[in-house]
Amino acid sequence: MAWRPMTPQDLTQVQALADAIHVSHPEDPEVLAERQRLYPKGCFMLVDDERAIGYALTHPWRFAEPPCLNRLLGAIPSPATTYYIHDVALLPAARGKGYAAQITSLLVGHARKAGFDNLSLVAVNKSQVFWEKAGFREVAVPGLGAKLASYGPDAALMVRDVASL
Ligand SMILES: CC(C)(COP(=O)(O)OP(=O)(O)OC[C@H]1O[C@@H](n2cnc3c(N)ncnc32)[C@H](O)[C@@H]1OP(=O)(O)O)[C@@H](O)C(=O)NCCC(=O)NCCS
Repeated sequence: MAWRPMTPQDLTQVQALADAIHVSHPEDPEVLAERQRLYPKGCFMLVDDERAIGYALTHPWRFAEPPCLNRLLGAIPSPATTYYIHDVALLPAARGKGYAAQITSLLVGHARKAGFDNLSLVAVNKSQVFWEKAGFREVAVPGLGAKLASYGPDAALMVRDVASL
C-alpha cells in the first residue's frame, strides 16, 4: 500500500470511497472534483496495487472559516491563513496500519514548506482522538456553531501549529 498523487482519472473511485465511508456526510461529485482541480498537489490516493482504498483532499484556506459541507470553494483564497484538511478517509481494512499518520506527516511537511504556520480541519465521525494523537487540538470559535452543525453534532474545528512538531 502507498500514497500517491490523485489525478482527475481517480475521481470516480474517490466518489465511491466517499459514498461508502462518509454515509452521513454525502458530498456531490463536483464538490470533490473541484478540490482536486483547484489544488491537485494537496490531493492523494492510498492504493493497494491498483485498488483505491483511501484518499486525502486538502487545500489552503482561511483559518476559522471552514467551508460548509458539500459546498464548492470557488477559488483558493490568497492570502490563505491555514492549510485545510478537507478529508482523510480510509476503507476499514486500511485503518490501524499507520497510513493516516503517514499522510498527516506528509501534509504537515507540505504546509510548512508552503509557508503556513497552522493546519486545520473539521473533525467528524468521532475522529477527534485520532487528530489529537496527530498533534491537533480543538479550538472554539464564536459564531461557528451553525456552520459546524452542517457536519453533524460531533463536529469540531481542530488546529495544529506547524511549529509544534
Ligand atoms: C480517521 C481515520 C483516517 C484514522 O485512520 P486510522 O488508520 O483509523 O488511524 P490509526 O489506526 O493509524 O490511528 C492512530 C491512533 O489514533 C487512534 N484512533 C484512530 N481513530 C480513532 C477513533 N475514532 N477513536 C479513538 N481513537 C482513534 C488509534 O487508536 C491510534 O492510536 P495509537 O497510535 O495510540 O494506537 C480513519 O479512521 C478513517 O478513515 N475514518 C473514516 C473517515 C473519517 O472520519 N475521516 C476523518 C474526517 S475528519
